[in-house]
Amino acid sequence: MSRLVLVKELRERDRRRMLKHFLDLEDSDRLLRFGTVLPDEQVSNYVNRIDFSRDMVFGVYNRFFKLVAVGHLAFAPRDEKNSVTEKERVAEFGVSVSKTARGLGVGSKLFERAAISCRNNDVDTLYMHCLSSNKTMMHIAKKAGMEIHRDYGEADAYLKLPPANPASVLQEALDEQFAVLDYTYKANKRIASKWLGRLFGKK
Ligand SMILES: CC(C)(COP(=O)(O)OP(=O)(O)OC[C@H]1O[C@@H](n2cnc3c(N)ncnc32)[C@H](O)[C@@H]1OP(=O)(O)O)[C@@H](O)C(=O)NCCC(=O)NCCS
Repeated sequence: MSRLVLVKELRERDRRRMLKHFLDLEDSDRLLRFGTVLPDEQVSNYVNRIDFSRDMVFGVYNRFFKLVAVGHLAFAPRDEKNSVTEKERVAEFGVSVSKTARGLGVGSKLFERAAISCRNNDVDTLYMHCLSSNKTMMHIAKKAGMEIHRDYGEADAYLKLPPANPASVLQEALDEQFAVLDYTYKANKRIASKWLGRLFGKK
């Protein structure tokens, strides 16, 4: 059954929740996400260093207003030796979905959003780096049509993207708008339930 997955761009105010999401990942998932079992302190450094003015970060909130997935789209200047693109920048995507939210299309949806954001930001090459044992991610990469190169247990994949067009711009704007509405509704519901809890003396 395909579910509605709303992907919202994350900002500075989401940093604390992002950190919680990453710290909740168990060692095997940290290995898959970061290529090494990153200790808590380094996870915290990573989150603190995310530059929201340069990169884009996407998230999915569940119905209990918990951040259950984070996708980091990092932009970097093109390496002079890069023969795959002539654009000024390339992008790399890293993603993680909490165990409780897996298998529902969240990872794929975050990837789709990253791809459309690349197009709309004049980037035509999207990279992903993962362990080649990561069957789920390899499946998502193949499904998206990524070109995959395997080397010593690691896999580098990249996807060539078409240029932006009015439909891609509209789609990203609409997706974000729906996600913001959903976020606002959940945030207000959370505030109302806390307020009612206090009013009726519940903890
Ligand atoms: C990889 C990850 C992001 C996937 O998230 P997800 O929300 O479960 O992914 P989706 O539900 O969108 O898609 C999973 C797809 O993989 C398939 N899949 C699941 N397990 C699989 C396996 N062992 N082998 C092959 N395919 C598999 C599912 O059938 C599904 O395919 P479909 O969309 O064609 O039906 C998530 O498992 C995760 O966070 N893993 C730890 C961190 C990580 O590996 N990050 C990627 C490195 S950057």
